[in-house]
Amino acid sequence: MILKSAELRNYRNFTAEKAEFCQGSNIIYGKNAQGKTNLIESLWLFTSGRSFRTPNEKEFIQKGCDSASVKGVFSRNGRDYEAELRFYANKTKQIFINGIKVKQSEMLGKFPAVLFYPEQLSLIKSGPEVRRKFLDVSISQIKPKYYHILTEYNKVLAQKNHLLKNANGSNLDTLEIWNARQAKLSSIISATRKSYCEKLTTNALKYLTDISEEKEVLTAEYTVSGGTTDEYELFHLICKAKNEELESGFAQIGAHKDDFDLFINGNSARRFASQGQQRSVVLCLKLAEADMIEEVHGEYPLMLFDDVLSELDQHRRNFITDRISGKQVIITSCDVPDGVGDRILRVEQGKIIR
Ligand SMILES: Nc1ncnc2c1ncn2[C@@H]1O[C@H](COP(=O)(O)OP(=O)(O)O)[C@@H](O)[C@H]1O
Ligand SMILES: [Mg+2]
Repeated sequence: MILKSAELRNYRNFTAEKAEFCQGSNIIYGKNAQGKTNLIESLWLFTSGRSFRTPNEKEFIQKGCDSASVKGVFSRNGRDYEAELRFYANKTKQIFINGIKVKQSEMLGKFPAVLFYPEQLSLIKSGPEVRRKFLDVSISQIKPKYYHILTEYNKVLAQKNHLLKNANGSNLDTLEIWNARQAKLSSIISATRKSYCEKLTTNALKYLTDISEEKEVLTAEYTVSGGTTDEYELFHLICKAKNEELESGFAQIGAHKDDFDLFINGNSARRFASQGQQRSVVLCLKLAEADMIEEVHGEYPLMLFDDVLSELDQHRRNFITDRISGKQVIITSCDVPDGVGDRILRVEQGKIIR
């Protein structure tokens, strides 16, 4: 899949800009606060309709305007597709593919991308919610159904937590119904994440072997909350935790408490990996994520690297640019990195200059 061009209208600090991209590496360089991340954010929107920076879509609309839009032309399996997202100050957004209005969930898997930004470099040592989100975002692009289950789970969880906080004699008998729904969705989510996590790690392993010159072996351990992905076992465990749940006002067991750790030569990366090792592992996970998308969709995804190259040393930088050479990647940076760049664009105060 190739992103041929993107057009932004009143999107953050871009008033009316068009950029054309090539296959290979596209460098977007510019000083701070010029719009580089804004541009990456707008391109990421084609994967799911959602931003990685904020759930508040009103922020996309340029100050003083009442709407914003982002349009992209993609080539996939030899066919061109035009996707457009329109955001409004006082109504919900609209999404069009080839001029036909679609639901947001229909975007998943249509224009897949792998995003890599500096916060992710600390993925391994961040809080568990960061790691769960990383898996959820990746899985949703290859398994849109997973996204629906996750959305449903979050709704059930919110309603159950509401009940736990406001429990009294008359409404408490519905708790078991919520527990059953929670257990059902939770078991699917945990099982899907667990198997994805294992497959992703197997894919990442070959990259880590390469980057570490065969010194490091990567394995993963996904920890399922409650210790089981069996719906009925989980249901019973949740029911048994009733008193704790009522006391805290929160669901204590379920997919929202899962986590994973990675192991380098058998040692927990979360506890023992050096900063350099952590960065190598994340890099390898990103490459593995792209391979998984290619395996499912038959085409390599668009790679979006926001400001990460400058964070990596020369060895890791060369490693990643070698692996994606020839693939389409859009890289933002304060300066033009040595030896990469099939097309170089400059961003200055919301203008894209070739
Ligand atoms: N809705 C908006 N309207 C106008 N400008 C915006 C809006 N949202 C963000 N900006 C501007 O975008 C700039 C930051 O752009 P960003 O892409 O984060 O910079 P960088 O090039 O450092 O990645 C800031 O100057 C900010 O004021
Ligand atoms: Mg930035």
